[in-house]
Amino acid sequence: MKLLAISDLHLGHAKNRAILESPAEHRDDWLILCGDVGETLVHVAAAFEALVPRFAQVIWVPGNHELWTTEEARGRLSGVRKYDALVALARAYGVLTPEDPYPVWPADLPGPRPEGAAPGARHPRVICPLFVLYDYSFRPANVAMEDLRAWATAGRARSADEVHLSPAPYPDRASWCRARLDYTESRLAALPKGTRPILINHFPLRRDLLFISRVPRLAPWCGTVATEDWHRRFRAPVVVTGHQHVPRTDWRHGTRFEEVSLGYPREWRARFTAPRLEDVLREVLPGPPARPVRRFTAGVAERTARAAIAALRWDRHRERRRAPAVLEQVAHGGRPADTETPTPPTGTAVSRLLPGTLWRFRSRAPTAPEERGS
Ligand SMILES: [Fe+2]
Ligand SMILES: [Fe+2]
Repeated sequence: MKLLAISDLHLGHAKNRAILESPAEHRDDWLILCGDVGETLVHVAAAFEALVPRFAQVIWVPGNHELWTTEEARGRLSGVRKYDALVALARAYGVLTPEDPYPVWPADLPGPRPEGAAPGARHPRVICPLFVLYDYSFRPANVAMEDLRAWATAGRARSADEVHLSPAPYPDRASWCRARLDYTESRLAALPKGTRPILINHFPLRRDLLFISRVPRLAPWCGTVATEDWHRRFRAPVVVTGHQHVPRTDWRHGTRFEEVSLGYPREWRARFTAPRLEDVLREVLPGPPARPVRRFTAGVAERTARAAIAALRWDRHRERRRAPAVLEQVAHGGRPADTETPTPPTGTAVSRLLPGTLWRFRSRAPTAPEERGS
């Protein structure tokens, strides 16, 4: 049993619509649709129609594109009314939305687990679809709100939301965002003590997780600083987002952040000729067991060795002459064949700089001095 995720299907593009036709059966798995399914109710209904029968449960959160005012209903569905219509559509298909109770991940429920489910966590995980908009607070500190659009235009950034995403009946999008923050925070704060929420939001929760290098001045349309610490405050093991069209995994403070976008055909064609659903789904749960251990790379090893040499010279200066030859060998990637297995000198700046693992790794290097030409 898995929790899988995809966002930014952008079904307005014919090449993206083909993804719904790819065969994929996940009768035991749950699926997150993390926003930007398309612009119209028809796009969203097409996704539900194709995906709901294939998954045990589908969860949806809105992206900015779903909230655009289109020709549907003669353009009368705008702002909160468009959002309400989308929620009603989701409920008609049995899809969970940010307006529904947060379900406990079935693998963490007491009693018999669903077939194939991994062992449950000690603290139950709760699936939390969120709708938190943006409030332009991701802009640089030296850009005033009234100068924001001119600043963005100067950097060739122009968000179509300014034209298509109505905040009605709120006076502006920042006010709508504030209302959503209040609503969402109160619900998360009311979760039973010990539960761990899987936070699902179309927009990134942290500014340092923006990877929009092509158009960096779109940052103000990407989230709010009000959510920067939510992963720690609410003890989230995983945060799932989209919007950036840059699928990747990052870690902050022990929380895994999954960006699960597909994006436009011009963005994915370097990775796929015709993406299938199986190719683009990203696993949220169970996922990796813990933060991956950072491995030493050759670059790290060499930098550490150089630092060790500098420390050695400092030690020599202080008349500590323990094991100078060994450290020269570490810097050159091996040790002479006629020496004993070296041990790191203790009590010096060297031993503090050279971790034990790296030391053993370097000590096993088979290179003989003559092979190095030294
Ligand atoms: Fe998108
Ligand atoms: Fe988006």
